[in-house]
Amino acid sequence: MIGAPWPTTSDRDADGRLTIAGIPVTELVDHYESPLWIVDEDDFRNRCRDYQEAFASAWVAYASKAWPTAGLMKIAAEEGLWIDVASAGELYTAQLAGVPGDRIVFHGNNKSVPELEMAARHGVARVVVDSFEELDRLEEVGRRVEHVFKVWLRITPGIDAHTHEYVRTGHDDSKFGFTMSLGLAAEAVRKALTLEKVEVAGLHAHIGSQIFGTDAFEANAEVLVELMAAIRDEHGVTIGELNVGGGMGIPYNHEDRPVSIAQYGQAVHAALVEACADHGLPEPQLAIEPGRALIAPATITVYEVGTVKHLPGLRTYVSVDGGMSDNIRPALYGAEHEIILANRHGSDNLAAVTVVGKHCESGDLVRERASLPDDIRSGDLVAVAATGAYTASMASNYNRLPRPAAVLVEDGTSRLLMRRETLEDLTARDVL
Ligand SMILES: Cc1ncc(COP(=O)(O)O)c(C=O)c1O
Repeated sequence: MIGAPWPTTSDRDADGRLTIAGIPVTELVDHYESPLWIVDEDDFRNRCRDYQEAFASAWVAYASKAWPTAGLMKIAAEEGLWIDVASAGELYTAQLAGVPGDRIVFHGNNKSVPELEMAARHGVARVVVDSFEELDRLEEVGRRVEHVFKVWLRITPGIDAHTHEYVRTGHDDSKFGFTMSLGLAAEAVRKALTLEKVEVAGLHAHIGSQIFGTDAFEANAEVLVELMAAIRDEHGVTIGELNVGGGMGIPYNHEDRPVSIAQYGQAVHAALVEACADHGLPEPQLAIEPGRALIAPATITVYEVGTVKHLPGLRTYVSVDGGMSDNIRPALYGAEHEIILANRHGSDNLAAVTVVGKHCESGDLVRERASLPDDIRSGDLVAVAATGAYTASMASNYNRLPRPAAVLVEDGTSRLLMRRETLEDLTARDVL
């Protein structure tokens, strides 16, 4: 076994080929072509189970925005998880995957009336309300279609999680939720409690993504319990459910050291129990919604090397057959995914190279500072670790590249999760 940040069944065979679930990636590429997303099914299923075990008795939802494809939603639901959706498209996909409404949570900072109507029709379990306008929309839709929405009010708790600026969401100056420090959370509760078609089932706060420590999660639980106490004091209402969001960090390379799933679980639970005891409140039903931590580490991307360009005294560029269209994270966040040679034992001498994609952008990076065998050449395969979250879900057709296929591998067998796009798919919406 190779170990983190690679999927749990990753290994090397005698010829030096990377294998996942016992299958050499060379065979998968021969069959499904390159580039290819490969999902280690056991790894994904085990992560779903580990989260449920670590957060015992909590409702665990798969935040499908990480990779909202029907096959993964179906597996997560089979493992007993709820599914978090954030648009009509994600909700439609969950329906396609056979996920019942009573296991779905609907998010979004600007849900439309048709989206709320769809949520009512599908009987989604909880709508996470993000704004005063949304409360009005829910009341209006609820009256029209005769539906009572059970909601969680999304609170902006004023917690600055130490993560990339683009994936921080809990600080005061955020587009998401009702800001506590400005009194908006209290005002939202006041308003929601007057509505007929809105039932306040709980509170929600998500503080960001790719967070490594437990402090911000503990602080988040404490702030939410404080608000529960304030609601009890002002309205005599005991809030029964708390969703502390997702955002647990994962290793993308050997330097990254997030805490374990069990540590996250213990820390959040202990913080919740203590805060409830301090405020004389019963422990609420806890809910969490990780996305990245479930699917990213279980997935790799395999690319074929096309060109190797040596610029003496400057650098070596290794170009692969995908890039920012299938993984925008290096360009968007400066993400550093580990990358290895995947089809053979390479030379023992490693060279510092920059791995780039095939797009018409200098910022089209796969890994800026990669260390690969110095005999890397055209026709080699490279594998990129931890590519299951915010890659396929953010993929584009820039330069009209068809999006890659994705396969699930398990115990020596493989099956399609998403087929490769065709040139016809690319032009299907074009009107001459
Ligand atoms: C509201 C909400 N919940 C859950 C998540 C999942 O976060 P992650 O994939 O980091 O676990 C996100 C992602 O940004 C989110 O916005």
